[in-house]
Amino acid sequence: MELIDMGLGLEGTHVLVTGAAGFIGSACVTAFLSAGAYVTAVDINSTKLESLGQHAHLFKVVADITSEEELEAAFESARAKFGVVACCIALASLDLSVLKHPDSVLDLEVSQFKRTLEVNVVGTFLTARTWLRDLTQHGNPNITRNASVIIVGSESGHFGEASNPDYSSGKSAVQYGLVQSLKASVPKLFPGARVNAIAPGPVDTPQFRKECAQNPLQLYLDSQATSASGKPVSPESVAKGIVFLASEAWSGSVMGQILNVDGGKFGKLMWERGQL
Ligand SMILES: *[C@@H]1O[C@H](CO)[C@@H](O)[C@H](O)[C@H]1NC(C)=O
Ligand SMILES: *[C@@H]1O[C@H](CO)[C@@H](O)[C@H](O)[C@H]1NC(C)=O
Repeated sequence: MELIDMGLGLEGTHVLVTGAAGFIGSACVTAFLSAGAYVTAVDINSTKLESLGQHAHLFKVVADITSEEELEAAFESARAKFGVVACCIALASLDLSVLKHPDSVLDLEVSQFKRTLEVNVVGTFLTARTWLRDLTQHGNPNITRNASVIIVGSESGHFGEASNPDYSSGKSAVQYGLVQSLKASVPKLFPGARVNAIAPGPVDTPQFRKECAQNPLQLYLDSQATSASGKPVSPESVAKGIVFLASEAWSGSVMGQILNVDGGKFGKLMWERGQL
């Protein structure tokens, strides 16, 4: 029997991760370095970015994904360091740990809604566009492999968030509309390049644990009552899903999909006991 090569084939691939200093971001950086990739870690927060530590294959750049100039400069310095960026992980976004949670949708400020869309939708589009422009100008489809963009969405983009429609609308926009649009244009602009999304369920971060400690119902509502596994997912499992999508050897025929890494989320609990 002839055995097959089950390696990820990511050795030497240049991967750029936005939002790299967060919990999922740093798990991604570690996972790609462990797979032998070159990693450019982009984050808006220079202090947190520094805490990622040092590695010969790691390059750190401070940039705001809402700034065209800063993103272009980030891709340019990344290219000067490790060559053209083949794979882009568009992870940076304002998440539910930083957004205000009004008690009711009646109180959600329009300014917050606009800001969330500006960062999470426009910023994600800009990240993908900057990657694609840089790749078409400086990459060669005959040589550059593992070319793809992976959009990080959320289970909120499927199921909504009762008092944060800003967040859920933004995630729906990127994991559906943006992915389907890029699916139609990316392979024409750069043969062989792919686009996919990943939609993590509640992730077991220190922030999630803190919230669960403050609100005893949260673990029940977010995981136990509403997911098959009954528990939140680890940042490492999200990172491994992203690595799978990044590996042409493993997912080269997977295109325009949303990979749900959520332990089998069913949705949201509509009425709590005693509310009707
Ligand atoms: C990218 O993916 C292919 C599999 O299609 C692999 O063989 C190749 O070595 C990978 N890495 C680079 C740096 O191109
Ligand atoms: C890629 O290869 C094809 C076929 O050999 C060739 O016609 C084309 O010019 C090459 N493209 C680049 C950008 O080198």
